[in-house]
Amino acid sequence: MSSSNPHFCDLLTFNTLALPCQAKNFVMLSDLGQLQGLSTLLKKCQKPVHDNEPTKSTQDNLTNQANETNQPHQTNQPSLQTHWNILGGGSNLVLPKVLHQPVLHIQLKGIHLLDDQGLQNDQSVIKADKSTFYRIRVAAGENWHDWVTFALNKGWYGLENLALIPGSVGAAPVQNIGAYGVEVAQFIESVDVWNIETEQLLTLSAQDCDFAYRNSRFKRAHYSNEIIVAVNFALPKAWQPVLTYQDLKPLAQRYLNPSESITPHDVYQLVCEVRQRKLPNPALIPNAGSFFQNPVVPHEQAQALKAQHPNLVCYPQADGTTKLAAGWLIDTCGWKGKRLGSVGMHANQALVLVNPDGGHYDDVMTLADAVRHDVQTLFGVALQIEPICWMPDSSTHHTA
Ligand code: EPU
Repeated sequence: MSSSNPHFCDLLTFNTLALPCQAKNFVMLSDLGQLQGLSTLLKKCQKPVHDNEPTKSTQDNLTNQANETNQPHQTNQPSLQTHWNILGGGSNLVLPKVLHQPVLHIQLKGIHLLDDQGLQNDQSVIKADKSTFYRIRVAAGENWHDWVTFALNKGWYGLENLALIPGSVGAAPVQNIGAYGVEVAQFIESVDVWNIETEQLLTLSAQDCDFAYRNSRFKRAHYSNEIIVAVNFALPKAWQPVLTYQDLKPLAQRYLNPSESITPHDVYQLVCEVRQRKLPNPALIPNAGSFFQNPVVPHEQAQALKAQHPNLVCYPQADGTTKLAAGWLIDTCGWKGKRLGSVGMHANQALVLVNPDGGHYDDVMTLADAVRHDVQTLFGVALQIEPICWMPDSSTHHTA
């Protein structure tokens, strides 16, 4: 069967948490020419189910899931609005055992230095000045770390702090990936998307993307009509290292010493070292990075907690709120390195949920609930799950 027709695929090797997931309708997107056909494919998936039809084979087929006319099914499946679940590198996902919603795996490739015109003609997009920025269009299916390494070797600097983050370029703006004092939003000029409903290619400015801490327009949407096909980066030609983060202090000291100098390669090297020390390599110990967001609480609540727990790690925010280190909260509850069944919280970083022994969706959610319960009980703070959770029989959701 052609890869552009929906077909069955086990997503076990397509997600870094290594959750088994039987995707009933899986499609690879490797060519922009396929975009026009996506609405038709989706409509096929929404074909109404007639009352005399539901047999075992149709139950196993996505066409049983959605019903444009809202006619009742004979099965117990709720009537669903079908949409594409977009799969990039699968590094920030929690997958159910069975998935009826169609999955679109983005495999678009290519990296291009843009001239002043860029590849778009949307006047509303603010374009970075070519004399002070390198402007580069990177296709959504490129691997994030490979792109960071490629840029570094080309002399396009700025992304070093984001080295070794797993996943794809197209996924980076969705959760506005961030690490070691830098967020990707700082370097995004615009994002090219395909709108499935209007069948148009659009360029969204960074402002349109509505970036926030681990969030964006794409992640906030219950599900998105927009498929990210490329990200347009603006990297300043004058390199300014970001060395504020505690783990990068050794370089900050060298940077401040007039007799020494540091290069973007030094920052890249140190970030890779720190990540390798603290964070488990998903190829060896399956994980999806930080499993919870760092919670943001009112300043007064943080002060009261600090009075009770003097070692509490907190970061005052510009808007008067305070961000707490979820890893510290979880660690203090005793979850660091602790297992629950086949899953557990990582021994070097309690914020990372690991799946070393072939756990499933339910194992992950049971552990997540137990951790959230303990943090809520000890600190009165609610943790939000950071990865995107795909539900078996409803739309994408982000928290559990
Ligand atoms: N901490 C503990 N115990 C732990 C883990 C952390 O006490 O088990 C303390 C640390 O000592 C430190 C503080 O908590 O004082 C923060 O820890 P860390 O510096 O490791 O960073 P984080 O806040 O836990 C965030 C991001 C990471 C990113 C790092 C570095 C989130 C949800 N996570 O983690 O992002 O790599 O900062 O910038 O914002 C990811 O999103 O997948 C991810 C790995």
